[in-house]
Amino acid sequence: MENKELLGEIEELKLKKDALILAHYYVDGDLQEVADFVGDSYALAKKAVASEKKRIVFCGVKFMGESAKLLNPHKRVFLVDKHALCPMADMITGRDIEEYRREYKDLCVVTYINSTAETKAHSDVCVTSSNALRIVKKIQADNILLCPDKNLGTYIKSQLKDDLKDKNVLIHDGYCHVHEDFTYEAIQEAKAKHPKAPVLVHPEINPACYDLADYIGSTSGILKEARERPEEEFIICTERGILHQLQKDSPHKKFYFTDLKQVCYNMKMLNLEKLRDCLRDDLNEVFLDEDVMEKASRPLKKMLEMAE
Ligand code: 13P
Ligand code: SF4
Repeated sequence: MENKELLGEIEELKLKKDALILAHYYVDGDLQEVADFVGDSYALAKKAVASEKKRIVFCGVKFMGESAKLLNPHKRVFLVDKHALCPMADMITGRDIEEYRREYKDLCVVTYINSTAETKAHSDVCVTSSNALRIVKKIQADNILLCPDKNLGTYIKSQLKDDLKDKNVLIHDGYCHVHEDFTYEAIQEAKAKHPKAPVLVHPEINPACYDLADYIGSTSGILKEARERPEEEFIICTERGILHQLQKDSPHKKFYFTDLKQVCYNMKMLNLEKLRDCLRDDLNEVFLDEDVMEKASRPLKKMLEMAE
């Protein structure tokens, strides 16, 4: 089937089903084009809450659809591909969190939105890479657990040195394979090839690379930096799907990646055919246990409150 025909079908189904299509910057460009809104994890969560539509269709991985459902229990939320998962989300469980709680009294559990609903149900507040610093700065507890991403945890700790100096900060050992795989050498090589290009890095990156970064921030932060900086070329250290929006925002600028893969194979499982099927046949609806829904929605709502 021609892409044009498929796009027409998707537009028709979107209206018929009163659906809002949300997409993350890491999915393929054609899905980003068809979406009503493209954003980082935080912006997508906020957009899901603001929408009047009856259903939300998520072009992203499972935790994103689950978060949209947790924030909108009365809406129908669908995933384009239910097999597209974030491996990091499974690197901590509610049981692990309860073990930390047994050991450390007065513990505030700060959980990255890249986590399962079950893990969120055991957490105090969620964060995304674009609001984590603002939120963690406000925490009063003596002990803080940053989970599951060790790299985001290390980044938060390094940025909030003064604010956290009297606190005991624990960092869990999860990671995103796309960002953990970055090496100092690979970025150095890219810099040698493009000496004038600033290096824009996501905070999920391996901390061994911090020294080479000119900017560290979320996907929307990286996009803003590339749009607003005067330089004409950039080295991008995050998942390659972001290139679509980078080029759309600044068609005259040049964007380079390292020789590493920089691909999230889960995000790449999604495509237009699957989106059409999901809309047409009501596939992959997100259903969560009521008790989990109740408990897991609290840290997400807390995030929205504290990020203001
Ligand atoms: P942000 O879009 O919030 O920067 O997150 C990146 C990510 O890894 C999503 O899976
Ligand atoms: Fe998870 Fe990393 Fe893929 Fe984001 S890019 S969904 S953190 S594996």
